[in-house]
Amino acid sequence: MVKGRNILLGVTGSIAAYKSVEIARRLVEEGASVKVVLTGAAQRFITPYMFETISSNPVYTDMFSDPFSHINLSREADLFLIAPATANTINKLSCGIADNLLSNLWLTYEGHALMAPAMNFRMYRNSTVKKHIRNLTQQGVQFAGPVSGSLACGEEGVGRMLEVPEILEEAASLFIEKDLKGENVLVTAGPTIEPVDPVRFISNRSSGKMGYAIARAALRRGAEVTLISGPSALTPPRGASFIPVEKTTEMDKAVFQCLKKSTAVVMAAAVSDYSPVEVSKVKRKKEDSNTLNLKVNKDIIKSLGKKKGKRYLIGFAAESGKDIESARSKLMGKNLDLIVLNDISRKDVGFNVDTNVVTLIDRNGRIADYPKMKKIEVADVILDRIVKFKKGKP
Ligand code: CTP
Repeated sequence: MVKGRNILLGVTGSIAAYKSVEIARRLVEEGASVKVVLTGAAQRFITPYMFETISSNPVYTDMFSDPFSHINLSREADLFLIAPATANTINKLSCGIADNLLSNLWLTYEGHALMAPAMNFRMYRNSTVKKHIRNLTQQGVQFAGPVSGSLACGEEGVGRMLEVPEILEEAASLFIEKDLKGENVLVTAGPTIEPVDPVRFISNRSSGKMGYAIARAALRRGAEVTLISGPSALTPPRGASFIPVEKTTEMDKAVFQCLKKSTAVVMAAAVSDYSPVEVSKVKRKKEDSNTLNLKVNKDIIKSLGKKKGKRYLIGFAAESGKDIESARSKLMGKNLDLIVLNDISRKDVGFNVDTNVVTLIDRNGRIADYPKMKKIEVADVILDRIVKFKKGKP
């Protein structure tokens, strides 16, 4: 996404400037070349030396150190990211005022631009600031945040800079083709849990990482996304409509409520196959019966398979070993278009790790093996199939 890209990071005078160091670090880690421009006010909060060390590039602060830096730096940039963007800088850039290196660069820059505002909530709701944000948006500038939260001044309100991972997500998204625009992708993720009594439940080890990666990747590619998730420690991606659930019956209900608007469904959830016949209202005692009677849960994707219409339906097959036959029989038995086979016996892939090794098996009998990849890359390989299907090339 940002790998190999030239990113111009503009830092302006806000307490949130300390987070820009992390932005620069993460961009470099992802393979981008980062050049940083600091305004005078930014240097009251943070030093050029920090950015120089992290970016391994010179840091630019002075308009008069090189007569053409304001042209050269902007010409080579693929993205101009201003984080934090203060009210003062936003207003100035909107008006075309060029009184420091950053604002001069802005006037010569013609590519992707992303701003992450940070300011007191009263400044953010000020009509002049609102007008200039609108003006810049109309010029094609993307705004990431601000969000509501506690502000440096001790007050609460909308003005807090978006968190670093979310800013990076917005930056990466700018470089991605929106080939899922118009699609409404329903993704399930995580485990479902089945209560035994008020404190105990039966469940499985799913972390939700694969499903959340699919939701993130689909958003980046321009889809509308609904993410229905069992309990997970992960933060739902910004922009997804998020429905948290616990039991299989709740996931089933949510899936069928959202089915109408969806054009593709990815069931990445590890749905509990069984649930206790009786759920005790009080905590079970050691002396109580040690037998747990279970009943089989509804197979959500199987019933989706009967009602899928023109939707593209993707399931997962978690197998102890690369069991193509079992995956293929799930594909056919549940009327899916594609099944993603996971060998969960491998320690380095599958549950609760960031990588996966998958085999995709489709209705036409095609089998495609993939090497070990990050889950976000696996997500794209899976989503490519929806794009192909929509283009009539399943
Ligand atoms: N699935 C579902 N509802 C269930 C069980 C599974 O929708 N009650 C879905 C999963 O989300 C996955 C697919 O069915 O997309 C296959 O799940 P998996 O656990 O591999 O297979 P099962 O059909 O449960 O069979 P088994 O556990 O015996 O391998």
